[in-house]
Amino acid sequence: MKTSLLIGITLMGIIVVACEEEGENETKISTYSSSESHNTGKNCMDCHKSGEPGEGWFIVAGTVYDTSLSTIYPNATVELTSKPNGSGTIMAQIAVDKNGNFYTTESVSFGQGLYVAVMGEGGTVKYMGSKITSGQCNSCHGVSTDKIWAE
Ligand code: HEC
Ligand code: HEC
Repeated sequence: MKTSLLIGITLMGIIVVACEEEGENETKISTYSSSESHNTGKNCMDCHKSGEPGEGWFIVAGTVYDTSLSTIYPNATVELTSKPNGSGTIMAQIAVDKNGNFYTTESVSFGQGLYVAVMGEGGTVKYMGSKITSGQCNSCHGVSTDKIWAE
């Protein structure tokens, strides 16, 4: 009797732990004043996607640095547009939080690809020349190309 009760409790424990290993897709969107993010510079979607432990499955996420490429740059703004150099329709606008990170779980229609603009606090804008079909910014930046930066 006691043994089966113990086994029961142990099994329940295992089930609870197993469920907690997978993050839920709750709405998470960075704001200028938020600071809940972490793992600066990492590819957020290694964990923030279906089947992984991150809370919220991000559609677009990454990290912005200053010109030193080693210090984070909070309060920048990331924009995805339908045409190059900030023209066309704004498809997404995401605030960079106090940790230099930006993220959103809102769906974005990438279609044939979107263009990227990153605005510094003072209004200086950097445009990415080529278009993207994935919002995993840190899968390239800081890996196969320079980190994202703003001034
Ligand atoms: C190694 C896996 C991993 C990586 C990489 C990762 N995260 Fe997470 N993240 C998690 C887990 C697990 C949680 C839920 C538990 C927690 O809050 O630590 C989480 C939670 C969060 C939360 C919610 C915190 C809250 O209190 O609601 C935010 C926001 C977040 N991550 C942002 C990011 C951003 C932005 C990146 C990329 C720069 C990133 N994460 C990279 C695993 C990761
Ligand atoms: C598939 C890889 C890849 C992804 C994903 C990617 N980038 Fe880029 N990015 C590059 C490369 C390569 C360059 C340099 C050539 C160019 O501009 O096309 C670049 C250039 C840039 C620039 C211009 C840098 C400068 O010095 O002027 C900015 C800003 C930028 N990216 C921001 C972003 C943001 C924000 C995201 C996510 C929304 C993102 N990138 C996603 C590869 C990527």
